[in-house]
Amino acid sequence: MEAAGAEGDVAAELRQRLAAGGQDHVLRFWPELDGAARRALAAELCRMDVAEINRFFRRARGDGGGAAAAAGLDARMEPVPRDVLGSASRDRGLVPRWESRGLAEIAASRVAVLLLAGGQGTRLGVPYPKGMCDVGLPSRKTLFHLQAQRLRRLQQMAEEQHGTPCHIPWYIMTSGRTMESTKEFFQKHRYFGLKKENVIFFQQGMLPALGFDGKILLEEKGKIAMAPDGNGGLYRALGSHGIVDDMERRGVHSVHVYCVDNILVKVADPRFIGFCLEKGADCGAKVVEKTNPTEPVGVVCRVDGVYQVVEYSEISLGTAQRRGPDGRLLFNAGNIANHYFTTAFLKDVVNTYEPQLQHHVAEKKIPHVDIATGQLVQPEKPNGIKMEKFVFDIFQFSKRFVVYEVLREDEFSPLKNADSQNGKDNPTTARHALMSLHHCWVLNAGGHFVDENGTRIPAIPRLKDANDLPIQCEISPLVSYGGEGLEQLVKDREFRTPLIIDEDGIHELVKNGL
Ligand code: UTP
Repeated sequence: MEAAGAEGDVAAELRQRLAAGGQDHVLRFWPELDGAARRALAAELCRMDVAEINRFFRRARGDGGGAAAAAGLDARMEPVPRDVLGSASRDRGLVPRWESRGLAEIAASRVAVLLLAGGQGTRLGVPYPKGMCDVGLPSRKTLFHLQAQRLRRLQQMAEEQHGTPCHIPWYIMTSGRTMESTKEFFQKHRYFGLKKENVIFFQQGMLPALGFDGKILLEEKGKIAMAPDGNGGLYRALGSHGIVDDMERRGVHSVHVYCVDNILVKVADPRFIGFCLEKGADCGAKVVEKTNPTEPVGVVCRVDGVYQVVEYSEISLGTAQRRGPDGRLLFNAGNIANHYFTTAFLKDVVNTYEPQLQHHVAEKKIPHVDIATGQLVQPEKPNGIKMEKFVFDIFQFSKRFVVYEVLREDEFSPLKNADSQNGKDNPTTARHALMSLHHCWVLNAGGHFVDENGTRIPAIPRLKDANDLPIQCEISPLVSYGGEGLEQLVKDREFRTPLIIDEDGIHELVKNGL
């Protein structure tokens, strides 16, 4: 009786608080819930700051503030000036200097990486975190596995060059939906050979999905429809989990932030780090050249003198098509969510700027329980919103912002969609991108490929269409981080495919009957 009474008190108190914020409809099915469901719902609601959610909604939906800010954007945009831009291809002569600066910094254990892995991966549609995806490489390595091995190789390169042991702390941001499975996966794989204490998991916040009227939606009768608060939820999470303090304690100066889904990501890229250090940057963005005006990618540029990412949908086709004197698109700095921050800048963001960031509104089809009927509704068109912050929202606060341009085929192939959905950014394109790159590495190091008759395959790969197979070639990150160190293994040698080069040697799988 007493317990039931206490439960009743909690419900009454909750109802009062929710009613004050106009959200007490979420208790509509309370009488139908059993004890466990009531406790779970009450716990979820107790953690929720309803007044804050309503405030976020009003600000995000605004009174046309977003639209007003976007008005006339085309006329206020300026491309990235050359003096803050470094290019891995156009400034090739400077790359070795940047690389050695970055490696020295890694050797001094002053570099950390931060992985954004809190997304739901709805388009990919797998029931586990995206980083656990195996895209069908010959080695069957997952995205997490590749990234971990790249970190190990970099640590080894830095140690060899500088003669001091070093480590690159790996901060992994998960969400309520991905935390447990991500941690378990790392435990099961013994942190892929990294030291456990250098892999730090933390969790980003979640927000409820709302109807267009700002009312919280229910996923089930006793469960709120919650979603992570966007990859820009990073900054709040950094503060609430003491991550910046941890970085300071470890003596970290530079942080490379990246997305889980880019199979080619060069984690802690010493060239990018070295370039940012040389420029004295507090914030930097790695970009790839946008070559097609209608490609739906955000571009890094200045608006009213302040750096930001402008989405393709925010500007006119005419602006997207403008070209500079060199014939390239004027706004060509395609954002690939690959950023450099100093720890000091992150600290300022956490302590000062984060609350100023406004949520972006994404209109979505959100399955929910109809409050009037109690029926589950699977909407066919958007029926509500999710509120998200973006990782690049903080560019505006940078005092020294730089941009580093790399070749898409070397560094960017995101995994967004399932193979069945469309021919873009799916497991097949990710797998092919990695194997094509590794094929090039072997060719550049003086190796050759032969077909089943022993005839040399032309050195320029010819992919006729998306179904055409690239040369099957995979090089373990433990052997080569970015194509280096392969000459002694492949120069003047001929290989049949599939070819795997890993720490145990060279394997031509067909020849060996594997
Ligand atoms: P996307 O915006 O592509 O989202 O994330 P997603 O969750 O991977 O996929 P969809 O849109 O549901 O299909 C880009 C990067 O930002 C991270 C993702 O994990 C990915 O690395 N992200 C996204 C977060 O860390 N938190 C979020 O709330 C959203």
